[in-house]
Amino acid sequence: MERIDKILASQGLGSRRDVHKLIKQKAVTVDGEIVLKPELKIDPEKSEIRVNGNTLSVKKYIYIMMNKPAGVLSASNDEREKTVIDILPPELRRKNLFPAGRLDKDTEGLTIITDDGDFAHKILSPKNHVYKRYYAELDSELSEDMISAFKEGVVFNDGTKCLPAALEIRDKHSAYVEICEGKYHQVKKMFAVFGLKVKYLKRLSIGGLELDSNLHIGESRELTNLEKRTIFIGK
Ligand code: URA
Repeated sequence: MERIDKILASQGLGSRRDVHKLIKQKAVTVDGEIVLKPELKIDPEKSEIRVNGNTLSVKKYIYIMMNKPAGVLSASNDEREKTVIDILPPELRRKNLFPAGRLDKDTEGLTIITDDGDFAHKILSPKNHVYKRYYAELDSELSEDMISAFKEGVVFNDGTKCLPAALEIRDKHSAYVEICEGKYHQVKKMFAVFGLKVKYLKRLSIGGLELDSNLHIGESRELTNLEKRTIFIGK
């Protein structure tokens, strides 16, 4: 059993104060009865909640796909800079949201935002081999021998060894890279070992989930249940 105001606030209907206003306006019903007190306790799985006549399907967690723009931080909050959470549309906002995996500030593309810690851990843990695919543009020429080096596991200058990665050369200055771990600046550092600088980086997919090409830069939408599963099925 949970308080109705807490349930409503957790479903993106605004702050506790906004929700109290809705209740005062008699806009909320539970099993057909107008809710008069925000402290009313109910079981959201057993009761039908309506807000302004519309049935609310209460979801425990939310799973969002964002096409992250460059210039925005992959973080929940930051004192000075805009984060991926700050640019979510109001209807997708919840408490406790965080990006499942960090893209650099200047990296674009597929970002999953959720409030489900176990789900995020499953995506990020290298032992689950969820490959993340990137498109990279480089400042100088790629060479074929990098393909086998990526496959064997690139070793950074400090001795850190990366897990095997796939490099697919597109042309002299652009390539696709697939990695299943998320070391800090990983793709940039892998190319740096070969003296190449990444000029542009975009994440295209996570496991079998591809960035929706209809999502413009900065836009977000909820993932479908099928898409959620696709992440772990691979491509
Ligand atoms: N590797 C990087 O170097 N940067 C990213 O944002 C993601 C992977």
